[in-house]
Amino acid sequence: MKLMDRLEAVASFVWEDGRIIDVGSNHGYLCIYFALNKRKNDIIATDCNPKSLWEAEKNFKRYQVEDQIQMLVADGLLEIEIKPDDQIILAGMGTKTMMGILTPEILKKGNHFILQSNNHLYLLRTYMVKHGFKIAHEKVVYERQKYYVIIDFVRGMEDYSEIQLRYGPCLLKQNEMDYFTFLYEKKKAHMKQMTKSSLDLDSLIKEEVEQLKKIRENL
Ligand SMILES: C[S@@+](CC[C@H](N)C(=O)[O-])C[C@H]1O[C@@H](n2cnc3c(N)ncnc32)[C@H](O)[C@@H]1O
Repeated sequence: MKLMDRLEAVASFVWEDGRIIDVGSNHGYLCIYFALNKRKNDIIATDCNPKSLWEAEKNFKRYQVEDQIQMLVADGLLEIEIKPDDQIILAGMGTKTMMGILTPEILKKGNHFILQSNNHLYLLRTYMVKHGFKIAHEKVVYERQKYYVIIDFVRGMEDYSEIQLRYGPCLLKQNEMDYFTFLYEKKKAHMKQMTKSSLDLDSLIKEEVEQLKKIRENL
């Protein structure tokens, strides 16, 4: 089975040992991929929507991997006793949903989180760093005319600048110019729209810095 590039990038950050817990598994393709690739990790697919898991179950049967994947209808990780070597994946959700699932108590127990959020990456990075994680790897994938950023968080301490938290310390090192150009164009269009005709860059930058400060203070 060929995974979408986005999910393949998520899978590339999974280690050989420890359970794989796919939270918000939906169609279950990521779990199928691990099962078909004969990973020795235990695999758990969870979703809060039973209909999603029924779909996943159909897919597991189609690929004959239903014996290798445990399914659980659950809100986030509430029904799971997290172990230190678990690898917890959340993909295809927004940052605020992720933060609702990754409570400080959960983040105390887990040591490895692979997150692909659809928005607010500054907030996500800042939140995870505040709770004792550092960024081991990042990947950006362009698929179906969209950019997706996948972040591999492991337990550890590292100081990041505001710029690193905003754009990704690894993405900056990797010089992901196409992605940064896209962000820049998006920002420019947004600013133009906000200011209609006159572009007061200075006050917009100040406003953005204030917004970032507020996000930080409210975490
Ligand atoms: C857009 S799908 C993403 C599916 C897959 N992870 C992917 O990346 O392709 C989001 C899934 O997250 C599930 N979800 C949302 N909030 C959740 C929560 N609190 N606990 C468990 N699953 C949740 C939804 O039911 C949905 O199936």
